[in-house]
Amino acid sequence: AIIGKGNFPHFMLKEIYEQPTVIGDTLATVLNPASQTVTLPPLPIDFATVPRITISACGTASYAGYVAKYWLEGLARIPVEVDIASEFRYRGAPLPEGGLAIFVSQSGETADTLEALRFCKREGQHILSIVNVPESTIARESDAVILTKAGPEIGVASTKAFTTQLTVFASIAIAAARARGTIDHKREAELASALSEVPGRAAEVLKHDEHIAEIAQTIAKARDVFYMGRGSSFPIAMEGALKLKEISYIHAEGYAAGEMKHGPIALIEDEVPIIMIAPSDALFEKTASNVQEMISRGGKVIFLSDAKGIARMKKQAVPFACIELPAVDPVVAPILYSIPVQLLAYHTAVIKGTDVDQPRNLAKSVTVE
Ligand code: G6P
Repeated sequence: AIIGKGNFPHFMLKEIYEQPTVIGDTLATVLNPASQTVTLPPLPIDFATVPRITISACGTASYAGYVAKYWLEGLARIPVEVDIASEFRYRGAPLPEGGLAIFVSQSGETADTLEALRFCKREGQHILSIVNVPESTIARESDAVILTKAGPEIGVASTKAFTTQLTVFASIAIAAARARGTIDHKREAELASALSEVPGRAAEVLKHDEHIAEIAQTIAKARDVFYMGRGSSFPIAMEGALKLKEISYIHAEGYAAGEMKHGPIALIEDEVPIIMIAPSDALFEKTASNVQEMISRGGKVIFLSDAKGIARMKKQAVPFACIELPAVDPVVAPILYSIPVQLLAYHTAVIKGTDVDQPRNLAKSVTVE
């Protein structure tokens, strides 16, 4: 079938807007709304006894893996290692007997990810992949596959594939935590319900599109842009920076907010935009104090938080702009906070007049090394 852009000027924007639907489609395969439990397809391992999980992927898919590390370690108490496939495959990493290796790929064809998979197979790991293309090579070579139901993604910059990868990982973390007894039924039901509300919340986030387009006017004038966050917001900062680089060609860096003092703060001066990913969570106060320091150095902070977080922030220092997201369980926040960073990159690229769907030098799927 030929896929069109519908009423959207670019595939990327269409795909951003499809997220409430495709996250819902993905959840429908793993979530049982009646019992408020997660039900995964049969897997090659028992989470209760798995010694370690190794996650490997490239580009945006790797950032889904970095978020998953926070979830799997925090909720299920399983040690997790994440690495980009082009490094992991050559490192000769020692892997534990009976370990689980997870590979994440929209296309299922990325050369380095596939070779990382083959390395893990030779090393006796159980292989699970999270892919969007069921008949892909990575899917075929895995012991088990959980599909993201993103549908065809045409824009080179990944959007809906990413949030559906996060959705799958969140479900895996909940199932693993149940298997290990690190969460009780009440907490599982809470998390399942928070996940089931993500499609509706994502639709609310999309309503900020126009406001984000206005903020993009500022970003489009910048030479360098910083994205920062703590905890599971840190990988979202890195993904935000990647998105902006890919399609607007503006230099951007994603940093852990706590590392700011160890380098990037030297670069913060008047007019430098800093996108702060700051949902109300256990680390909020620390993030807010980082924001205060950046504002006092003239940085233009674009503050992404919920109403409570924004109100708390404004008592300390007033950011250049705030984007208010719905208040959600911090566990599902990374899925929702992905959306404004996608829109910010998109609108900045449109203002810059770049080829949004096919940015220079980039390929949708990198099947050569
Ligand atoms: C390319 C694409 C990225 C993608 C990466 C991994 O670089 O431009 O958008 O994140 O490959 O692709 P995969 O298909 O393995 O997810």
